[in-house]
Amino acid sequence: MATFPAASERYTKPAILFHWAIFLLVALAYLAIEVRGPKGTDSRVFWSNVHYWAGTLVLALAVPRLLWRLWRGAPAGIDSNRLLSFLSRVVHLALYLFIFVQPLLGILTINTAGHPVRLAGLDLQLTLAGPDPAARKFIKDTHELFGNLFYWVIGLHALAAIAHHVVFRDNTLRRMV
Ligand code: HEM
Ligand code: HEM
Repeated sequence: MATFPAASERYTKPAILFHWAIFLLVALAYLAIEVRGPKGTDSRVFWSNVHYWAGTLVLALAVPRLLWRLWRGAPAGIDSNRLLSFLSRVVHLALYLFIFVQPLLGILTINTAGHPVRLAGLDLQLTLAGPDPAARKFIKDTHELFGNLFYWVIGLHALAAIAHHVVFRDNTLRRMV
């Protein structure tokens, strides 16, 4: 089996922790939206709160995660194939953007409807913008579009990680766990 020079380098412990904590929170945000149920029910209120909490925590963790990444960098790429390594960079960049932009769009969806974001159980009100019905439609549509689009991007990213492990049998997945 071919080995590549940097193949034994690992992600740092904090990078690994950030990656999987954010993964779980994004998964929870998606789950909450899927199971929330019809308007006017207790289930809807509960799961919407879970969605806001999980999504806001994604943003809160994205900031130190990015700072850590800029400070400590990442291990060198494993792909020997230039096209695949370019593709993985593009997808990683898109995922980094997503964990900032998607929660911000969610918060703005609520703010532009004229409400602060309230996180259940926490005495905190988040207001980044005032009421703006025209902007709200666009922002809400974009939040929904990105939400649906990134099911696929995350799926592709996860499939690539599994393919590295199972098909190429390299270190890609192991160095992120
Ligand atoms: C990474 C984090 C997040 C993800 C992956 C995400 C994903 C989604 C998805 C998939 C939908 C449903 C779209 C559809 O109906 O097709 C949605 C709706 C929504 N999200 Fe998020 N979201 C995130 C963060 C947030 C945050 C932080 C907030 C606000 C605090 C928020 C507020 C909303 C609102 C208000 C809706 C519309 C609900 C409705 O139909 O009225 N989201 N989100
Ligand atoms: C919400 C879901 C996810 C997000 C936002 C996400 C985000 C990211 C980002 C931004 C990177 C680049 C890290 C860096 O260079 O600093 C990365 C790397 C990685 N992710 Fe994910 N990820 C998600 C889900 C997953 C899943 C489900 C798997 C596994 C099945 C996975 C496996 C990996 C692996 C193995 C790497 C290292 C790739 C390499 O060394 O080239 N990720 N992820």
